[in-house]
Amino acid sequence: MSRLIVILGITGVQGSSVADAYLSSPGWKIRGVTRNPASESAKKWEMKGVEIVKGDLDNVASLKQAFMGADLIFGVTDFWTIFKDPESHKKKRPSQSLVEYCHDVELQQGKNIADAAAAVPSLFRYIFSSMAHAKNSSGDKFAELYHMDSKADAAIYAQSLPALTGKFSQVQAPIYFQLPWEWGLPTTPKKVADGTWRMAGIGPGNKGIPFGHVRKDFGPCVKAVAESEPNVNLFAVGEYVSWSDYLRIFCETQGLKYGGYDELSYDKFCELLPGGLGHEFAHNVLFAHEFGYEGKDPAVVRPEKVNHVLFDLVATLGHN
Ligand SMILES: *[C@@H]1O[C@H](CO)[C@@H](O)[C@H](O)[C@H]1NC(C)=O
Repeated sequence: MSRLIVILGITGVQGSSVADAYLSSPGWKIRGVTRNPASESAKKWEMKGVEIVKGDLDNVASLKQAFMGADLIFGVTDFWTIFKDPESHKKKRPSQSLVEYCHDVELQQGKNIADAAAAVPSLFRYIFSSMAHAKNSSGDKFAELYHMDSKADAAIYAQSLPALTGKFSQVQAPIYFQLPWEWGLPTTPKKVADGTWRMAGIGPGNKGIPFGHVRKDFGPCVKAVAESEPNVNLFAVGEYVSWSDYLRIFCETQGLKYGGYDELSYDKFCELLPGGLGHEFAHNVLFAHEFGYEGKDPAVVRPEKVNHVLFDLVATLGHN
């Protein structure tokens, strides 16, 4: 009899990666959960034989329904979906910043997933996509890194549920290697007047940033964790690359003239990316430099076999 994996966020980067890892594994049936089963991306999974069901992270009953009969559940929340939703501006309390509101919603969603998973008698393993708790692991220095702490506290909540004892593990995603190109970030390499390419970012240009090819490598990491004993906390990092090397490799592989990296102040970064976005990104990088992206938690393990050749990654940039 085949086993059933239920994947939240199947149309997202992490969920898609997990689905790919299990599509090529005999003996598994895949059920993908999405807010919008009618979307093009949901239909694509359906055509590959994946069962698609509707589920809403704000609604525990819908999750319980979606999880019925699951052996394995992959749970993921997305702070940035809440951040980008125009409704969030209306729903937040006037005294709350938008990112604080997103934190509260994301944490509640993480708790909802855990509660729903705890109600599945057939469950063998629940794997949650978490992050380090920036406030706790920095001794309160980075006390307002909302998109990290929400996930970390959701993981603590899952661990507190007796029904999930011996069934829970976590995987932490690294910084997506394409990220500098997204969101209109100031980190996107640009051609300047003298014909060279420069990029600007937060933090010094020579310190490593934990990158990864999440679409490709996250799924195999989740699968490895699912096949291990419970209570694993894996940091699915690919390779540490500094901003300067990132730009250098991009220029070398594209035949462009390397200019250099310009370090922006926190204030400047927040000015370029207002509304809390600059704050979350800037503190994420500064926290990673000082305390480790995964909070230097000795219990966190790293993949040994998911290293890449950076050239393969960055060579594909700018071509998609
Ligand atoms: C962070 O610290 C608070 C206060 O001690 C605690 O309640 C919470 O569980 C901690 N969270 C994590 C993820 O360690």
